Amino acid sequence: MDDRDGVKRKTFLRQAGSVAFFTALGLPFYSCGSTSADDSSEQTVNSSAVGITVDGNRITIDLNSITGQLLSEESDWLLIRDKRTLVVNVDGSLIRSFTSRCTHANCSVNWRFLNRQFECTCHGSRFDTAGAVTRGPATRDLPEFTVSREDDRITIETRNA
Ligand code: FES
Repeated sequence: MDDRDGVKRKTFLRQAGSVAFFTALGLPFYSCGSTSADDSSEQTVNSSAVGITVDGNRITIDLNSITGQLLSEESDWLLIRDKRTLVVNVDGSLIRSFTSRCTHANCSVNWRFLNRQFECTCHGSRFDTAGAVTRGPATRDLPEFTVSREDDRITIETRNA
């Protein structure tokens, strides 16, 4: 088995585990399906997922929870659908967060992450892990949310998410 097989198997197991986990808890799980072995598995949750707490515009994610563990590795990412929030593990430790409202035409739930870039599949705009536009039609960067980290807990200030 080469590394590519390992990546495929890991991606499959993570997706299968996520679906089983959310199904067992009666929580919604959304996936548009990831198609490439080199992208991270698409991870879409709502803020009711285990490990996420919301207080006003503040989202806290326990990185030790099952949901938080979806952000444990470089290029892992989450779309918190109902809070219109994207979260990405940039380099294995740095976690950044952005609005999921695309700056082109406000699509907010049609995202995938491919080759270290977010892609809004409504019209194909792409943004890097700093939120900067790398491909139009969007012309404005994704507004970034403030992320603070204390031990294994991150807090995202979402403002108007
Ligand atoms: S709304 Fe995102 S590319 Fe058009």
